[in-house]
Amino acid sequence: MKDQSKKIKWGIIGCGNIAHKFASDLSILQDTELFAVASRSEEKAKEFQLKHKATKSYSDYNQLIEDKDIDIVYIATPHSSHAEWSIKAMEQNKHVLCEKPLAINKKETSEILETSKRTNRFFMEALWTRFNPSFVEIKKLIREGAIGEIKYINADFSFKTDKPLNSRVLNLQLGGGAILDIGIYPAFLTYTLLGIPNEILAKSIFHKVTKCDMQTSMIFHYPNAQAVLYSSFASKSDMTAKISGTEGQIIIPDPWHVPQGFTLVKNDQKKTFDLPTTGIGFSHEIIECHQCIRENNIESKIWSHQNSLDLITILEKVRKQVGLNYPQE
Ligand SMILES: NC(=O)c1ccc[n+]([C@@H]2O[C@H](COP(=O)([O-])OP(=O)(O)OC[C@H]3O[C@@H](n4cnc5c(N)ncnc54)[C@H](OP(=O)(O)O)[C@@H]3O)[C@@H](O)[C@H]2O)c1
Repeated sequence: MKDQSKKIKWGIIGCGNIAHKFASDLSILQDTELFAVASRSEEKAKEFQLKHKATKSYSDYNQLIEDKDIDIVYIATPHSSHAEWSIKAMEQNKHVLCEKPLAINKKETSEILETSKRTNRFFMEALWTRFNPSFVEIKKLIREGAIGEIKYINADFSFKTDKPLNSRVLNLQLGGGAILDIGIYPAFLTYTLLGIPNEILAKSIFHKVTKCDMQTSMIFHYPNAQAVLYSSFASKSDMTAKISGTEGQIIIPDPWHVPQGFTLVKNDQKKTFDLPTTGIGFSHEIIECHQCIRENNIESKIWSHQNSLDLITILEKVRKQVGLNYPQE
């Protein structure tokens, strides 16, 4: 067991939208230091460093992963480069927390997970919802039989985007499309509660110019349950998730992927659970990384390598159904 009092030093690659939010949660934890940040632009790296009080900044991702003082690297670049930087960082002896989806397909995922084993470095996909206090409580209640046997799940993840055509969300070269970017959340919810579906049906509407999927409807079919799931960049819809069982229902309010509580409905009675996140909600996955590193584990038992592999396999099946391929495949 490593010294619990020693601060874990983080490096961040890619100074975009989510990296700023993640850094703000890093700053509220006691045993953490944001040691270095790296951007392709020196100016952007320095701005980020100043804003989040990092010790160092780099204008080259390679310099950051070679920095011997860093314990763990958080990768916040577009999906298409997750595998490359995860593998390079582990080969430089760094632990890695990589944003979701950890790669664009099963092949890249297997290469990442094999690198973690070979280098004996901790690796986890940053599926923060799995560590959210409400989600942890929901899993526990379901395990204890609070809603009986799950029969039906319904969840959307959708918003309207006005991003330019070359943005990472619309650009296939960067792993764009709704399925990988946001469809991953309803797929994650259903996989975590019901496992791998026996059958998947899916249909997409594609962007006329970039050809990424703009909206995708999915049915996950199980022998005794079904899930109706949706992801879209075309319009906002209600992002309330509903989990219906033989004995009751759990309702997670909009936005269900980062809940601050939920409602259990049973025998026409409603019970509300208030479970606010610490910070924005990234702190919970950060704490898990620290615990795994201190215990010399290369993976989390809560969101394991196999879980990530299963989830990307499910998403690959959805893509196959709708006919979405990436240029690099
Ligand atoms: N957990 C969550 O809630 C959550 C939410 C949003 C996004 N994400 C995930 O986080 C990742 C980043 O998303 P984001 O919304 O932060 O994206 P973003 O704002 O576009 O930032 C991505 C950053 O990646 C770097 N980058 C490297 N190569 C790039 C390229 N070819 N084109 C564009 N940027 C490039 C850039 O940083 P530099 O210019 O500094 O090098 C850019 O700022 C995605 O994989 C996404 O799925 C997770």
